Amino acid sequence: KLVNGNDIFKDARKNHYAVGAYNINNLEWTRAILRAAQETQTPVLVQVSMGASRYMGGYKFVKDMVMDQMDSMGINVPVILHLDHGDFDAALECINLGYPSVMFDGHKLPIQENYEKTAEIVALAHERGISVEAEIGKIGENQDSASGELASVDDAIRFANLGVDKLACGIGNIHGIYPKNWQGLNFDRLNEIAHAISIPLVLHGGSGIPKDQVQKAISLGISKVNINTEFQLAFQKATREYIEAQKDLDQMHKGYDPRKLLLPGTEAITDSMKEMISWLGTPSLT
Ligand code: G3H
Ligand code: ZN
Repeated sequence: KLVNGNDIFKDARKNHYAVGAYNINNLEWTRAILRAAQETQTPVLVQVSMGASRYMGGYKFVKDMVMDQMDSMGINVPVILHLDHGDFDAALECINLGYPSVMFDGHKLPIQENYEKTAEIVALAHERGISVEAEIGKIGENQDSASGELASVDDAIRFANLGVDKLACGIGNIHGIYPKNWQGLNFDRLNEIAHAISIPLVLHGGSGIPKDQVQKAISLGISKVNINTEFQLAFQKATREYIEAQKDLDQMHKGYDPRKLLLPGTEAITDSMKEMISWLGTPSLT
């Protein structure tokens, strides 16, 4: 069933494990992610970015698709459907559509405006039992170590006091592929924030961080790890291998049939997610 995840992430923070938040782009991604959750019997957060929602035809379609797939696949683990990096309007739309969980990402706004807009979203969402994630500091942008910004401890306290359910903090993490000269996560800042506030903390840019750093971050208070690029790379690699292997056999094996062509990549996402679940220590429900 669809849940807001508040109990799940609180339990994760308390017991030092994390639950993965996996981005979907289409039907194949959705099915691959639900399948890994079902086969490992672990709770899962399925998230959609504004761009991916536009690509698929909107938030209503995404919600309907996820729920229909849960039904037809017989998914019996808790699924948290979540808006990833939403602006104010996207967060409002998803709240009105009954998404159980939304991120309002106001990090580009001046901090006071981020705070005030986050407060508005929290009030509207909480009236309906919807969970809210906010962002402070800045997650770096693709392959650019210089574009991130550490979250301040004072801001973390202010946002936690606002009642946000989860907080994404810039701690040296970067979206996309990490550059060769990346300095690693800033565990000192994470530690300070984790001591100051007790709500679940979110690690964005989870793809490509070495396992020991992911696990150390979890031991300090990270409860949600966002993964997007990792699955795109896994999908691309398996698809490329399939196409290469099929090069001269296409006619015979109907390798041009999209239901065959998309299968290896889809399976690679499920495999990659199962490995991530073991990194994160997400406990099985059975
Ligand atoms: O919000 C989504 C994530 O932060 C994903 O980042 O593509 O680096 O895994 P990633
Ligand atoms: Zn992110």
